Amino acid sequence: MKILKIGGSVITDKSGCRKAKSENIGRIAKTVAGIWKKGARDLVLVHGAGSFGHALVIKHGLENGVKNTAQKLGYADTHAACCELSSMLVAALIANGAPAVSIPPAMVLSLKDKRIARFDTKIVNDYLQSGYLPVLFGDMVPDSELGGYPCSGDQIVAYLGKGADMLVLATDVDGVLDDKGNVIPLITKLNYPEISKHLKRTENDVTGGMKGKIDELLALDSPAYVMNASHPERIVALFSGKAALCTQISEKK
Ligand SMILES: Nc1ncnc2c1ncn2[C@@H]1O[C@H](COP(=O)(O)OP(=O)(O)OP(=O)(O)O)[C@@H](O)[C@H]1O
Ligand SMILES: [Mg+2]
Repeated sequence: MKILKIGGSVITDKSGCRKAKSENIGRIAKTVAGIWKKGARDLVLVHGAGSFGHALVIKHGLENGVKNTAQKLGYADTHAACCELSSMLVAALIANGAPAVSIPPAMVLSLKDKRIARFDTKIVNDYLQSGYLPVLFGDMVPDSELGGYPCSGDQIVAYLGKGADMLVLATDVDGVLDDKGNVIPLITKLNYPEISKHLKRTENDVTGGMKGKIDELLALDSPAYVMNASHPERIVALFSGKAALCTQISEKK
């Protein structure tokens, strides 16, 4: 299995609320459908929720879970918005010739104190094996301790990515940047303590921003890459086994 995650910062405007970036959705869909049509039948697509998730979690006060009726309305509203965003991307993928099927995480997984405790991955594998392009996304999901909680696309990538051949996380920056703004080529457990000082938790990201992403990926032994989705040729290169500007995250070395 190969997993491509398109960051919510790419397909939405994270400074707003429920603001899609339609042009980017169209461009990304064309790129991903192109990779699928070239024969990548082991591809799973995950996308972030961007301003259809983070902004609504904050608006409805769901950062500590879902307890009362108002928060349940907020859960429902946030989940509906995440599905709405996914439908936009899926429609664009279908228009570009990829049989994309959206699998809402709220229906197939649940958390225990913010971490995935149950995930019916068979549904994902069955769709893959039947020749579809499964699409998952950052979503509000049930949590046995907290009632409900946002599950990031990054955590879904990390869970599905155990034993995967390749994980590519495309976002709105060229990779993980050092304090001078240069792309750090490789992050391992050895250099991470120093690098993590430059990873800021962003205000509009309730699931940890870049630091949350790297924390998830560093626990895996599959090759993982953080790169810029504004450069489709880099995504295509990585999926063709070629080099591209990015940060590689590796448990080894
Ligand atoms: N050292 C760093 N290097 C690169 N990006 C950083 C760094 N520190 C903080 N960031 C921020 O991390 C952001 C990417 O993480 P973020 O989780 O916000 O995006 P995403 O994964 O695309 O969105 P989503 O979580 O909605 O899927 C970048 O836009 C950047 O502003
Ligand atoms: Mg994020």
